[in-house]
Amino acid sequence: MQLASEYRALRASLQRVEDDGAVFAAEAYDPAAVARARTVWTTRTQNEYRSTFVFSALASQVLAAGASVEASAVTLRMAQDELVHAERCADVSVALGAPRPVLPGAAGPAGIATHTKVSREECALRNVVYTTCITEMTAVAYLTLSLERARDRYLRNAIRAPLADETLHGRFGFLYLESWDAWLRARPEVRASLTRYLRFAFAVAERELSQAPKAFARTADDDALGDVDPGEMGEIYRNTMEHAVAPGLERFGLDAEAAYRTRTFAP
Ligand SMILES: [Fe+2]
Ligand SMILES: [Fe+2]
Repeated sequence: MQLASEYRALRASLQRVEDDGAVFAAEAYDPAAVARARTVWTTRTQNEYRSTFVFSALASQVLAAGASVEASAVTLRMAQDELVHAERCADVSVALGAPRPVLPGAAGPAGIATHTKVSREECALRNVVYTTCITEMTAVAYLTLSLERARDRYLRNAIRAPLADETLHGRFGFLYLESWDAWLRARPEVRASLTRYLRFAFAVAERELSQAPKAFARTADDDALGDVDPGEMGEIYRNTMEHAVAPGLERFGLDAEAAYRTRTFAP
């Protein structure tokens, strides 16, 4: 079918890292650890699919803000990457013994904030910072830790491919800010407004990304399969914000380190 072959060609053209063709051998591991990994990858399928909605909506906002063709095209590419990630995660779930997660339908549409009280330019800037500098940078730190632990060759391939993409996604926000630097420098009121937004964004992201730890006796096989406990996410988030994201945002005239320290849900 032509749509399928078009998609295969597109997916191959977007691939950043080679796969060495390793296959998963479940018998090498404790079945309980494999079952836990299966849950991680089926959940991840849903999250990646949801990210496709987020980046598709972000692409519309970036276009509406009058961003460059390059910035708009890369945002569209990120949406495409997420759809490929969802499909790859579904493949991994099957390799780990799960029934194939259904795509589409793995997860409902995810919303993106519309920020109706600010300009279209600031709306796009806010959501670019939230989705890439904050969320994707945390995903990069999470996947890096997962790859550091993973010994299984099949799963290392499965982690490396999205990690290569998420690294671009995480950097995108800083590149986007750079392309709006002159515009921002000329508008101290927008920088002040973005800084106020950051206090809220850092608090929301911390709540979204921090999860309760799983209650199980962790084994060496969980490490070999690249497991990162949900209970580790809060610390991963805080380290990434404190040491990478907030200092990085300071370069654009945003008082991001103070915003991070004083993060709050209060308006
Ligand atoms: Fe992704
Ligand atoms: Fe991503």
